[in-house]
Amino acid sequence: MTGQYDVLIKNIGQLLTMDHGDGPIRGEKMAQAPMIEKAALAIKDGKIAWMGKTTEAVSLTADKTIDAEGKLVTPGLVDPHTHLVFGGSREQEMALKQQGVPYLEILKRGGGILSTVKATREATEEQLLEKASFHLDRILSYGVTTMEAKSGYGLEKETELKQLRVVKKLNEQHPIDLVSTFLGAHAIPPEYKENPDAFLQEMLDLLPLIEKEGLAEFVDIFSETGVFTVEQARGYLLKAKEMGFDVKIHADEINPLGGTEMAVEVGARSGEHLVGASDKGIGMLGTSETIAVLLPGTCFYLNKDSYAKAREMIEAGAAVALSTDFNPGSSPTENLQLIMNLAALKMKMTPEEIWNSVTVNAAYAINRGESAGKIAPGRQADIVLWDVPNYHYVPYHYGVNHVNTVWKAGKLVYGKEREDEQVYTS
Ligand code: NIG
Ligand code: FE
Repeated sequence: MTGQYDVLIKNIGQLLTMDHGDGPIRGEKMAQAPMIEKAALAIKDGKIAWMGKTTEAVSLTADKTIDAEGKLVTPGLVDPHTHLVFGGSREQEMALKQQGVPYLEILKRGGGILSTVKATREATEEQLLEKASFHLDRILSYGVTTMEAKSGYGLEKETELKQLRVVKKLNEQHPIDLVSTFLGAHAIPPEYKENPDAFLQEMLDLLPLIEKEGLAEFVDIFSETGVFTVEQARGYLLKAKEMGFDVKIHADEINPLGGTEMAVEVGARSGEHLVGASDKGIGMLGTSETIAVLLPGTCFYLNKDSYAKAREMIEAGAAVALSTDFNPGSSPTENLQLIMNLAALKMKMTPEEIWNSVTVNAAYAINRGESAGKIAPGRQADIVLWDVPNYHYVPYHYGVNHVNTVWKAGKLVYGKEREDEQVYTS
């Protein structure tokens, strides 16, 4: 039977729309999670066509009708900071970690990021694509429908372009929408050890080609002890901006160097990590457009005692987002739900703050605020049905995947019970 709609989801316990109106969420709005209780939702031609109370949906018809059995429905999650494309893996570094060798010391010895650079240079484009696609499937299974992906394991022209081309292809092939970031300035390659400025110039010289081929929207740099100084990063990002790119920065991740202030000063779309952000930097975030992308998985995995000061940032008025930082070294996990748990446990963020941080604010951090991160009529239907009774439950019950079903642009793309007849009962 042909219905008015393609899909109708009824008996939703909480439909978290996250629709606060326009713009990133900050201040009092961070404490709110807009929703409709006892809700229903209809999808047509890949878009949200109708939403309201289940009692108002009795006369609606659809090709497929789903009984949500009182469970939670939310927008597809947005992961705004990942290092998706890389060769190899770094499980051999676990023993060094256990012996207490710091992350930056491993890098200094030529391991860490540089060991992944070697493996990525050696891999073919097809191998990188296949591997990244495997990780993407897993990311989707955790409820993410839009995310960012950085290069940065080439540190030379051909491999950086190879990584960016993989992102472009995956964006065309895979249900997840990918936003590409050029992170050529991720470490100083051994061949430029004595001359990082020349290396930065070489990376800047790639930007016209990257622009021409539409290979990246953002430019990012890792400012850290033993990597690039805040002043090197400032000069680099300002030049990238002049060339038409939006910019992001890995700032104050391990050591507090003033990267947070610099991110605001250069008008970065986002400052990322910000573990060592100073009080001044936090104050500046609160009155700026720069989104604070926090990555507690990295602090957890690097066994840090302190985490980014999310409470102070939110109180200062900053728009906070959360991300996995998925990468083979400091945060090997595709699980954004685990990050939501860590945000609650380690940064004392409330469930409402956490949901704002993995939907609306994460979307604005990658310039997708107008298309991703909320459920509203006319918007693309990126929807997750969760096996949980309410939105408080996901940051609470940790270490497992709570996703039941994911729709991307109205299409079923992940379901525990993948057979249509089991997912859909009409
Ligand atoms: O965000 N710090 C720089 N980049 C990543 C780690 C990359 C890696 O270790 O391979 C991060 O932590
Ligand atoms: Fe990162």
